[in-house]
Amino acid sequence: PLSRSLSMSSLSGLPLWEEEPLPIEDLLLFEIAWEVTNKVGGIYTVLQTKAKVTVDEWGENYFMMGPYYEHNFKTQVEQCEPPTAAIKTAIDSIVNSGCQVRFGRWLIEGSPYVILFDIGAAAWNLDRWKGDLWAACSVGLPYHDRDANDSLIFGSLVTWFFKELTEQLRDKPNVIAHFHEWQAGAGLVLSRARKIPMATIFTTHATLLGRYLCAGNADFYNNLDKFDIDREAGERQIYHRYCLERAAVHCSHVFTTVSQITAVEADHMLHRKPDVVTPNGLNVKKFSAMHEFQNLHSLNKVKLQEFIRGHFYGHLDFNLEKSLFFFIAGRYEFSNKGADVFLESLARLNYLLRVRKSDTTIIVFFIMPAKTNNFNVESLKGQAVRKQLWDTVQAVKEKFGKHLYEALLRGEIPDMNKILDRDDFTIMKRAIYATQRHSLPPVTTHNMLDDSSDPILSNIRRIGLFNSRNDRVKIVFHPEFLSSTSPLLPMDYEEFVRGCHLGVFPSYYEPWGYTPGECTVMGIPSVTTNLSGFGCFMEEHVSDPSAYGIYIVDRRFRSADESCNQLTQFMFSFCQQSRRQRIIQRNRTERLSDLLDWRYLGRFYMHARHLALSRAFPEQFKLNSLATQGFRYPRPSSVPPSPSASLHSTPHHSDAEDEDDHEPYDEEEEAEKDRLNIKAPFTLGAVPEGRK
Ligand code: UDP
Ligand code: G6P
Ligand code: GLC
Repeated sequence: PLSRSLSMSSLSGLPLWEEEPLPIEDLLLFEIAWEVTNKVGGIYTVLQTKAKVTVDEWGENYFMMGPYYEHNFKTQVEQCEPPTAAIKTAIDSIVNSGCQVRFGRWLIEGSPYVILFDIGAAAWNLDRWKGDLWAACSVGLPYHDRDANDSLIFGSLVTWFFKELTEQLRDKPNVIAHFHEWQAGAGLVLSRARKIPMATIFTTHATLLGRYLCAGNADFYNNLDKFDIDREAGERQIYHRYCLERAAVHCSHVFTTVSQITAVEADHMLHRKPDVVTPNGLNVKKFSAMHEFQNLHSLNKVKLQEFIRGHFYGHLDFNLEKSLFFFIAGRYEFSNKGADVFLESLARLNYLLRVRKSDTTIIVFFIMPAKTNNFNVESLKGQAVRKQLWDTVQAVKEKFGKHLYEALLRGEIPDMNKILDRDDFTIMKRAIYATQRHSLPPVTTHNMLDDSSDPILSNIRRIGLFNSRNDRVKIVFHPEFLSSTSPLLPMDYEEFVRGCHLGVFPSYYEPWGYTPGECTVMGIPSVTTNLSGFGCFMEEHVSDPSAYGIYIVDRRFRSADESCNQLTQFMFSFCQQSRRQRIIQRNRTERLSDLLDWRYLGRFYMHARHLALSRAFPEQFKLNSLATQGFRYPRPSSVPPSPSASLHSTPHHSDAEDEDDHEPYDEEEEAEKDRLNIKAPFTLGAVPEGRK
């Protein structure tokens, strides 16, 4: 049992990590990242979702710093005056020297202050700043690496700001500067070289070499200690970036990363063990009604079904009520994100469903941005055909209703054969003719610029999943992030995820991987791997993740072929579930949300800040952490361990898919039992000596 001294959050039963609060009034906290107000991938999600808890703790003493882009600023930031004279003076001195800095509130939950630096407007300093970087740490940047040059301009501006600021403050208040990822690294290196008095933290969300080596198909995890890292970086032409990253790591008072697996990687690729692991959280919203997220699934599924009706027009010979929606989403790193393993497993799943003569159809969405030349005509036409058919139906329905109404008013039951005239039938026939097509429903929604060499398309060609009638697995590749203003699929990412049944993220290289976690908090089951930070975190904290709808593919100890088989099995058993079983599983999945909430995981960031202060200003700040106990989320009392076995243990039901699904079952009672049934605590946040 948990020690009584641990305070328990009342709802979730999660033990809290107690640490003495910092004297916020004597401190200023800055977080510096390229993705502040600037969406690229998961780092944006970290910053955006964490803002609320950080502002709750730090109030007006918290600032984020990022690059200024006009479009981002106009759409996400409300300009305002800096709250203190010191900040204003520091900004003014940069502006007065001919560079541009904007200040405002980022319009996200928590409305944190943001300080944004215009990279283009300061580019005229680049050569001088390259010289400064060289003088500070002997790292040179080649002129053709635009990203590295931009990161230097950003870093130089940030350093300039901190120099001006700390000169005015003179340790009252003290400054904590938390830098994220190599693009912010120059600011950290330069600040330390100039001996700016502040506590610094560097968080890496991946290592450059790790990402490159994995994408290059290296057997990464079995050779972690064998790579000649300097040479590998040189061969991949990222030596200068890697030097910048490594310098930042070693300059920081506290070095952190997002998962244990990346901690081990960092130790090998960057030669420093992270001091703290700061797992990524989410800003979890609880609905007041327990089943609200189930209703949202239903509502959004209807929207997806509409899209499918259009996309597959003329080929709608499958039952949409018996169709399941799977998806993969993220930056387009084909093998790192496991799209290769996913496609191969889909081919196997298709075969299995066909030989078993299954009447379930799986629609699989690939949401990965690639270079395109807009939507393709065939996809847009599909939606237009559907819309036209719908309009025809409305017109005929209207006319039918009017005739019926008039007849009933006259006290007659009309002759149903005559209620519509020949013209109406003609319109309807024409509408049906319009739904004929001579080609298969397209595999991709856009005109791809690299159609012939695109890895997803090439693999689809190889495995032959072309959306033909016999295929039980159909593919829709949407090579652009989703948006509610899209003319084709007008849904934002969250609505889309809610409408799906299963997220599949079989990543090979994934320091954390937000996508399965986002599924979890929305109550959508997902597949992850034991090579992703998220998957390892779940394996470590939850007794039986699959019972909670988190399927973890073993990509560490199995061959690619075996991993594909395992993934195929997961998906195949998922297809065997009845609607009722899926509903129960979604309830369980959603129950893990508390574990991923920043209100809980935010304390690892708190700890990192505390540690940094104690190292930078040892006289003033002592580290006095009371407890670092974690916990393990128990197996739900209602299920045996494996997902296939759990099929029979969930309340059984006829296959009728249309019954009232809103019965509360015993799930609530079980949830309560789970909460009280927390197993032995263990330590979170420590970095392991070696990999499991
Ligand atoms: N995402 C998005 N729109 C989409 C697909 C994905 O905003 O259409 C987001 C998703 O919500 C997630 C992020 O992209 O937060 C990807 O983060 P992840 O950590 O999974 O991977 P990364 O791209 O950082 O490697
Ligand atoms: C939610 C809704 C139910 C609906 C079900 C469909 O639970 O509240 O009314 O029947 O979703 O689930 P399915 O897994 O078949 O999409
Ligand atoms: C990186 C990683 C991803 C992680 C994200 C946020 O982009 O690729 O796995 O979730 O950062 O930490």
